[in-house]
Amino acid sequence: MQFFLDTANIDEIRELAATGLIDGVTTNPSLIARSGGDLVQTIKQICALTSGPVSAEVTATDASGMIAEGEFLRTIADNVCIKVPLTWEGLKATNVLTGKGHPVNVTLCFSANQALLAAKAGATYISPFIGRIDDTGANGMELIGEIRAIYDNYPALETQILAASIRSVLHVKESALLGADVATIPARVLKALVQHPLTDKGLAAFLADWKSTGQSILP
Ligand code: G3P
Repeated sequence: MQFFLDTANIDEIRELAATGLIDGVTTNPSLIARSGGDLVQTIKQICALTSGPVSAEVTATDASGMIAEGEFLRTIADNVCIKVPLTWEGLKATNVLTGKGHPVNVTLCFSANQALLAAKAGATYISPFIGRIDDTGANGMELIGEIRAIYDNYPALETQILAASIRSVLHVKESALLGADVATIPARVLKALVQHPLTDKGLAAFLADWKSTGQSILP
């Protein structure tokens, strides 16, 4: 499973890229706004911090505008992935952009049929928004399972499932159990993945016992 960071915060990306565990980054207009930075400069900086795909989202709402914006975004760096919304216009743009060889992440997916359409349009990634489905009282994880089952029924569909709107460590674990190809994870959740009180307790005991021996490993 690949891990993308879901942020446009350069400091967070720099810190977590240093772990060697980050395979890419996803942004959206809200994350760019929250970062306070200029879109082009921010995407350029992020692309320099990871060799993996960096999703940058179009804001046009018609297919020709999305195509023009997407092709412009792709000039920022080789690893930019164009993000488009799951609308008919977005699907048309996806078809054209992927036909020209550009990677496309289709975002704001809330149903299995939407994911099927995105795959037929040739999307590189489909982004089902787990947390926002949970917010409505439904179970976002069920959507990941449905999309996995549908895509597995049709091996010709090569779209990767990118679990998005992840809010908790449980979302990451369940996405992995259900076979999502990628999880895009906020920094706070990614950092929490490593935590376990028994790890901390066990390490403290090992270190105390080691200290009592008076030994050191390196000569
Ligand atoms: O990857 C999409 C993500 O940024 C949306 O997350 O928490 O705003 O639903 P959230």
